[in-house]
Amino acid sequence: MRTVRSVPDLRQAVDAWHADRETVAVVPTMGALHGGHLSLVALARQRADRVVTTLFINPRQFGPAEDLARYPRNEAADADLLREAGVDLLYAPGPDAMYPDGFTTTISLGGPAEGLETEHRPGFFEGVATVVAKLLLQAGADDAIFGEKDYQQLLVVRRLVADLNIRTTIVGAPTLREADGLAMSSRNAYLSDAERQRAATLHGVLQETARALVSGTRAADAVAAGLARLEEVFDTVDYLALRDAATLAPLDTLDRMPSGSGRLLAAVHLGTTRLIDNVAVDT
Ligand code: PAJ
Repeated sequence: MRTVRSVPDLRQAVDAWHADRETVAVVPTMGALHGGHLSLVALARQRADRVVTTLFINPRQFGPAEDLARYPRNEAADADLLREAGVDLLYAPGPDAMYPDGFTTTISLGGPAEGLETEHRPGFFEGVATVVAKLLLQAGADDAIFGEKDYQQLLVVRRLVADLNIRTTIVGAPTLREADGLAMSSRNAYLSDAERQRAATLHGVLQETARALVSGTRAADAVAAGLARLEEVFDTVDYLALRDAATLAPLDTLDRMPSGSGRLLAAVHLGTTRLIDNVAVDT
């Protein structure tokens, strides 16, 4: 596995593969890699001849109250995991390569970026969309893999790529979980033992609520019951919401889930750690 840090070096590698008629998939990450990230790499390897992973801790998606300095950094350990997973190229640009002096263009969003995370992390998706647009245009890969773990992010990226005619196919990958259902996340390392025990309730409540919805409970009642349960266990609940799976349009005010695909999404706090998760609701 080679590591490159500049756009010309990245493009040279991808162009050479394309000249040999090889397909390329890219997996964008911020490092601190775990099994969830590696499952995206495995999917990328299934879909394409060559795999590029990007590692860039994007300052523009951290709010003023969120500690960019505290974000775990260990490029050497991440590179070992990626090499073992069969990644061909690691693209790890520094902040000055990504945002050189004079950088000023950003992307403004609507649609799937409205509500949910945006209410609690204003500016977050603008930062994500700006860096994802750059990474996709820099790499010129055929496919890019994003996790359903960050479901709203996945839909924001799908909208971005459709609206700006970026020539990369966005592929969603299922959420990898611990044995008790907790979604794998770099932030799980911040949980104390006691908090770690409580954390799995998040997925449990999402599943129970999804079952209630599928069996015909009024949407508003099912979501209210789930919210009450989350409020018993977690220090703060940012939201529990039922949305359309494709557009994220709100469905929780409806009496009954319309037939089709819904998505139940939640964000909670345990001490200083914020956890998000979501599940499908298919009727
Ligand atoms: P990061 O949090 O490092 O996540 C990188 C990718 O891994 C995302 O697509 C995320 O959804 C996926 N992922 C995280 N946990 C997962 C799990 N348990 N199962 C499956 N996939 C999982 O998301 C970002 O970085 C950034 O916002 C980024 C897109 C790289 C832009 O900076």
